[in-house]
Amino acid sequence: MEVSNKYVVIKHHIEEAPKESDFELKTESLNLLVDEGSDDIIVKNLYISIDPYHINRMKSFSPSQDAISYSTPLIPGQAIDGPSVGNVVASGNAKFEKGDFVVGIFTWAEYSVVKEGSIMRKLDPSQFPLTYYLGVLGFSGLSAYGGLCEFWKPQKGEKVFVSAASGSIGTLVGQYAKLLGCYVVGSSGTKEKVALLKDKLGFDNAFNYKEEINLNATLKRYFPDGIDIYFDNVGGEMLEAAIDNMNAFGRITICGVISEYDITKKRASPNMLNVIYKRITIKGFLAGDFLNIYSDFLAQTSNYLRSGKLKVIEDISFGVETIPSAFVGIFKGNNIGKKIVELKV
Ligand SMILES: NC(=O)c1ccc[n+]([C@@H]2O[C@H](COP(=O)([O-])OP(=O)(O)OC[C@H]3O[C@@H](n4cnc5c(N)ncnc54)[C@H](OP(=O)(O)O)[C@@H]3O)[C@@H](O)[C@H]2O)c1
Repeated sequence: MEVSNKYVVIKHHIEEAPKESDFELKTESLNLLVDEGSDDIIVKNLYISIDPYHINRMKSFSPSQDAISYSTPLIPGQAIDGPSVGNVVASGNAKFEKGDFVVGIFTWAEYSVVKEGSIMRKLDPSQFPLTYYLGVLGFSGLSAYGGLCEFWKPQKGEKVFVSAASGSIGTLVGQYAKLLGCYVVGSSGTKEKVALLKDKLGFDNAFNYKEEINLNATLKRYFPDGIDIYFDNVGGEMLEAAIDNMNAFGRITICGVISEYDITKKRASPNMLNVIYKRITIKGFLAGDFLNIYSDFLAQTSNYLRSGKLKVIEDISFGVETIPSAFVGIFKGNNIGKKIVELKV
């Protein structure tokens, strides 16, 4: 059967904050039958994960582009690949059959033709909503769990600060830290998000960084006894202020520096004397580094989800046409929780 397959491309490289006009919706005709002898798998995409890291793939150059296979440069006019959940509609590969639900690296499209290596796992839709495998049980959850719990083994009473706290990773970092008995404060960009963190997710406190004039003083106000662990999602001035407020032997996770992805914006230039004299440890990571602890993470997080101790915040838009606005929106702070585009089933 022949279908028309809509997919999203970039028109050109993007160096600054992305705009919807940087993207184009293309249509191709696709045969949903697999050729004799081919090991292709055709996936109908159901949910597409919208992630900040793609912006670094859209640049003409970024240090991220030659680091790992899933952050390679994107070529204008060509299909964009990224984490997605889909349903197999045809398969020449004996390991997959029509009807299987799968999570993997597919394309920003209605259908993707992939090889076995692009599929991470088959999913059982009776366990959890399929969207969870892009957020809380996917790379967001693994990043939060690995970058906080695995790195630093937070102790009861330790003081934890997380930026972009109402985003996909931030909501989970704060909740894991609370489950471990820490004092947790988050920053985010609207009143509504601040209320969510305090009232629904159980953060001890939260603030709107856009209303603060001096972030260093703000952090002093929320952490009069200093910060033990900072989980950084934003970089820039927030990282500088956090370093000034860290306790001796403080630990900092550099998960992301979204405020610096627009190359015209200020990069963090922290006071390194603080790093030296406070003996601060700063560690970066890639989510894939934690695949060795995926089964522990999955078991622990599934228990938290089943017992209602961990809340999932998702922000879903509908239709392949909404991918550009969904992507542009995460750089404007439009999303609350994990941003996902759902395609018509
Ligand atoms: N190391 C890894 O393997 C890995 C894996 C996944 C993600 N990441 C990184 O982790 C961070 C969070 O990712 P996520 O998927 O959870 O995204 P997200 O937090 O769900 O969405 C991004 C949020 O960042 C905030 N933001 C956007 N521009 C900002 C700016 N200029 N200054 C401050 N905040 C800004 C916005 O919220 P507010 O402005 O309202 O707070 C926005 O909602 C990103 O930096 C991402 O690149 C790293």
